[in-house]
Amino acid sequence: MRTVVAKLLLTSMAVPRVLSGIQPSGELHIGNYLGAIRNWVRDQYEHDAFYTIVDLHAITVEHSPKELRRSTVELATTLIAAGLDPKICTIFVQSHVSAHTELSWLLECTATFGELSRMTQFKDKGKNDESVRAGLFTYPALMAADILAYQADLVPVGEDQRQHLELTRDIAIRFNTKYGTTFTVPKATIPPVGARVMDLMNPTKKMSKSAQAQSGIIYLLDSHDNIAKKISRAVTDTDNQVKYDPPSKPGVSNLLEILSACIGEDPETIASRYSRYGDLKKETTEAIISVLKPLQQNYFELSKDPGQIAEILEIGANKARVIANQTVSLAKENIGFLAP
Ligand code: TYM
Repeated sequence: MRTVVAKLLLTSMAVPRVLSGIQPSGELHIGNYLGAIRNWVRDQYEHDAFYTIVDLHAITVEHSPKELRRSTVELATTLIAAGLDPKICTIFVQSHVSAHTELSWLLECTATFGELSRMTQFKDKGKNDESVRAGLFTYPALMAADILAYQADLVPVGEDQRQHLELTRDIAIRFNTKYGTTFTVPKATIPPVGARVMDLMNPTKKMSKSAQAQSGIIYLLDSHDNIAKKISRAVTDTDNQVKYDPPSKPGVSNLLEILSACIGEDPETIASRYSRYGDLKKETTEAIISVLKPLQQNYFELSKDPGQIAEILEIGANKARVIANQTVSLAKENIGFLAP
């Protein structure tokens, strides 16, 4: 209540606008939560916050239509269960607001082939494969449209999105310089810990929804037994020294970082408390379970009423559309299109 009142008071001054997005392509994991979602929850109280489920991005790779529909509802339910409050922030599905695709074309014609070719996500996922979808290449222009359509000031994301955010800024500045001030130039907000949670079995690789093996991933809806099992099997090393040193001790450092993000103490201080990997794993398991428990309870309650989720998404899209349409109109005018 106190935070809602604080936000209402702030609204009369200019509250920074936040926008972020997440793909409905597989189950959410603890990396998504620590790197992004819990910061979205924090930001909704202080900022004018918009969060979008980016289904248009999810079709840039092979997908199943039935699975996409299911994942979209599941993701909306998980975001609300994690603490996004539709009464104070706007939650919507990207494809419900056609301004995103319209603006994306204008931005594709602002970004260069060279810039898009340098995106590491495209290089990793595309792997020079001829059958890669063209949409995967132009993906960052659509992401820029998601952000710029809302004149967002801040974009809370994990470390892997930093390069896309830099490109978004470059595109905004170029457009503004060539055609007149049109877009707010946004800034990424990346948390100091938890911005790059690594795979438990392969701690030099980022924990990812698209990973082949599930044993290295803590899913937000994993049972407590499963969480305990996955953490107990997490790869460490043989020198038996609890120390935060990501380059030479990636497995142990990843556990320390997850624990740090869960309990809010820095990883070095936590490391100094432990002499055995077993004890570190035990505390990490308990910390993850206590962070995820309320989310899981909320999820099972919310999933009993999918009608309520559909309504929240409809209200969100109606609100989002108004703002995004205004920006698209201005961008079309500034780029030189004749008014209809
Ligand atoms: P996506 O769906 O891959 O991930 C959603 C958010 O989770 C963060 N994240 C992680 N953080 C820490 N450790 C990890 N292992 C980890 N894995 C994922 C991501 O950084 C992200 O913040 N392109 C975006 C979606 C997008 C978007 C946008 C984001 C589309 N339009 C506009 C911001 C603004 C993506 O694929 O995120």
